[in-house]
Amino acid sequence: MEKNQPSQINKWRRRLNFYAYVAAILGEGDIYIPTEFARPVSVRRVVNAWKNTVSAIKKDKAPKQLGIFIFVPFCKTKCFFCPFFSFPLSSKSELDIFTDSLLKETRFFKDVFKGVKFNTLWFGGGTPSILEAEHLKRIFGALDKLFSFTQDAQITFECSCSSTNYKKLKLLHSLGVNRITLGIQSLNNRVLRENNRLFQDKETSIKLIKDAKKAGIETVNVDLMCGLPGDNINSFKKSLREVIALKPEMIHINPFFPSAETNFFKSDRNYSKADMLRRAKEADLGTQILSEAGYQRSEGAFLGFARIEDAANQQEIDRVRNSSSFISFGPSAESHAFAQLDYTNAYFEKKWDKPILPKYVSCKFNIKEEMRKHIICNLRNVIFRKNFKKLFGEDIIESFPKEISELEKFNLVQIDEEKVFFKIKTRQEQLILAKHFFNPKYLNGVSKKFGGRFKPDKNYFAEITKLIDISV
Ligand SMILES: C[S@@+](CC[C@H](N)C(=O)[O-])C[C@H]1O[C@@H](n2cnc3c(N)ncnc32)[C@H](O)[C@@H]1O
Ligand code: SF4
Repeated sequence: MEKNQPSQINKWRRRLNFYAYVAAILGEGDIYIPTEFARPVSVRRVVNAWKNTVSAIKKDKAPKQLGIFIFVPFCKTKCFFCPFFSFPLSSKSELDIFTDSLLKETRFFKDVFKGVKFNTLWFGGGTPSILEAEHLKRIFGALDKLFSFTQDAQITFECSCSSTNYKKLKLLHSLGVNRITLGIQSLNNRVLRENNRLFQDKETSIKLIKDAKKAGIETVNVDLMCGLPGDNINSFKKSLREVIALKPEMIHINPFFPSAETNFFKSDRNYSKADMLRRAKEADLGTQILSEAGYQRSEGAFLGFARIEDAANQQEIDRVRNSSSFISFGPSAESHAFAQLDYTNAYFEKKWDKPILPKYVSCKFNIKEEMRKHIICNLRNVIFRKNFKKLFGEDIIESFPKEISELEKFNLVQIDEEKVFFKIKTRQEQLILAKHFFNPKYLNGVSKKFGGRFKPDKNYFAEITKLIDISV
């Protein structure tokens, strides 16, 4: 591969950062409202917001689906491709302090959720399976005491080969986990090594998938990635076929995004046009292979395919389709209290030598902002007008007449009595169209921040296409 000169790289980076920022600002629903506009907020304010949301749920004035998300930031090693806030665990005492801090955070919300039930609980990261039996028992015990769950609540836990064995899977099952998601990424040992996944090989991966079923876990999801650095189409297909042969209930083929947070990006490696084309090809071939094997594309998941009903991540579906509320605990985790607050625990430090309290930052949410976020999240879905009205009390066309007629002019939306269907095929189009539904105050705020360099009315399609080539 041709090596870029340092000056070229810097130029590219400066450019990338600006357009990447623009892309994110215009971007995906889960970042609306842009985090730039978040302000520090007290625990008391957060608790009060939740009290209001819970009261609305009880009066049937907010979606009844309710989730808990627990974020565990530790991993065995840092994978080359990973953009998440996660870092290698240095000692067991960090897990003890993390658990103490997490439980302290949950206790702020004691009594707030009395009279309502959570239908989902999701442990994500990082690598939650790095927690040991004593931490798991403490966390599950505390959650059970503080919160109520529906009889059939979906309890998802993310695991990796670095820290999961049959005994831990049995323990998770006994604690109520009914959905496991296994980070596998590839079954090619060379690709795993190249991506610094030194804790995993093909053999341990296959054993993990088999053990998850043997331990009695109802739904097993396997995460693979397409377009991974160092991979190729044949090896991707081979990994996928070998995973399919083990019959997990669900398989994701997450397309690799070389975002600025990844060590891939930081190491100045170039994700070439050929890599992007390979990624798109692998996504297409993967979709075809999975469909031939009886896996259907799942609602709420980007490239997730299931072979049975209800295998998908219900919390993800609730968030996207129902704009439902979820409360998160742990560093960097985001929460959403319907029509009240969207907030993040902005603790991003890697130090865990004493108990940590959350640092919440938030954006104020009201019903109009909820509507905007809902549309942005669903630009690649159909929005049923009846469902929209039930959620927000207004018809989507009457709420956004100007925005929708603008899209109609370009033949980008189809409307009938029942539904609104955005004719968006790629993620680039989604990024561009999202901007139409932003509160103008945020677009103007971004423009101001960049001294007018960002122009709310400009079409950034060409730049963003060049930058991200998100053809999948
Ligand atoms: C939050 S990560 C946790 C995974 C788990 N710690 C593991 O063993 O890898 C969830 C999933 O995100 C996907 N992922 C990680 N980095 C990605 C990237 N740069 N682009 C797209 N997907 C990515 C991977 O498929 C991964 O399994
Ligand atoms: S992919 Fe998983 S194991 Fe690897 S660094 Fe990210 S969170 Fe950790």
